[in-house]
Amino acid sequence: MIPFNRASITDKEIEYVVDALKGRRLSGDGPYTMKVYDRVRELLGIENMLLTTSGTTALELASLLIDLEPGDEVIVPSFTFSSTANAFMLRRAQPVFCDIRRDTMNIDETLIEGLITPKTKAIYTVDYAGMPCEYDAIEAIAREYGLYIIEDSAQSFGSTYRGRNCGTFGQFGCYSFHETKNYAMGEGGGLVLNDESFLDRAEILREKGTNRRQVLKGMVDKYTWHDVGSSFLPSDVLAAILYAQLERYDEIMAKRLAVWNAYHEGLVDLENDGLLARQVVPEGATHNGHMYNIVCPTSEIRTQVVSRLNEQGMYPYICYVPLHSAPMGLKIGYDPAACPVTEDYGERVLRLPLYADMTVEDANNVVSALNDVLRGA
Ligand SMILES: Cc1ncc(COP(=O)(O)O)c(C=O)c1O
Repeated sequence: MIPFNRASITDKEIEYVVDALKGRRLSGDGPYTMKVYDRVRELLGIENMLLTTSGTTALELASLLIDLEPGDEVIVPSFTFSSTANAFMLRRAQPVFCDIRRDTMNIDETLIEGLITPKTKAIYTVDYAGMPCEYDAIEAIAREYGLYIIEDSAQSFGSTYRGRNCGTFGQFGCYSFHETKNYAMGEGGGLVLNDESFLDRAEILREKGTNRRQVLKGMVDKYTWHDVGSSFLPSDVLAAILYAQLERYDEIMAKRLAVWNAYHEGLVDLENDGLLARQVVPEGATHNGHMYNIVCPTSEIRTQVVSRLNEQGMYPYICYVPLHSAPMGLKIGYDPAACPVTEDYGERVLRLPLYADMTVEDANNVVSALNDVLRGA
């Protein structure tokens, strides 16, 4: 059987969790959380990241920090997970859905300017499948119109665009360390603060609106309520899992890329014969092998592929129903025709199984099953 995802757990994760438990330091911001921060600094040069309870709450915290108000507009791709939009809609800001590029499946940067109005406050980008967006163009637009960029880098920890790490574009990057992500802690996330002036308030909002973190840093001896915040700290026991995963950073990256490359090479003939399209790596980018996506010729063929692969114990995954034409999108008045590429890809994109402990042989077996079904065997 080849599932769509399987967490990669070694003795190291188990050892660190046991150690965290033995230390009886179960709440947030404990020793393993600090080790994670040091490791992220060492790996990616990121100075300020705060662990959160999920990628979703990292996005929510970013949305609180930019003081969105009811009626503000946010430009966001529709080809994404609900969390990207929920984060600012909880602040009563309105999504303005932007279509995606056919090659990289990321927000089409050439369409952004046409969606800007006097109410636009921010662009929420999504590095789909760990592929960076076209940040040179997006940053230029944000600068010209005075907009925030919030990067939903849930899937792109370890990817780069023109030498810069995903998560470091705009004011905030939002990583996910959910079980399905490359580096996991079960449920968890990280808010990257690229503008240090937000740091003090972020620490307060993340700690139920109190300055408790200043107590932990020895700056004050009593903490009190300073702002309207919430509880966004994950347990240090979960941070212990993530620390082990980050110690295995190179190993996990290499294993995922080996599987990704096996798919990419193995599927070239099917693409040349017009039987599928492969997702394109953006120019000047490196990616983290988070997902492997194909575009099937039709929705019916995708359904057929899924059922034939399932019969052989292989479990590809239909990733996104576009947000603008999902039940919630329709409820708030969006037109399914608003983002035609997204609508089309929502019917045809298929995510193949990919996880660190999958073998190249597993990938070759999936490729062979795809050949059979797409060539009508
Ligand atoms: C693009 C995107 N944004 C946000 C999230 C939310 O992350 P989490 O599951 O950690 O809340 C995910 C997770 O699947 C995601 O893929």
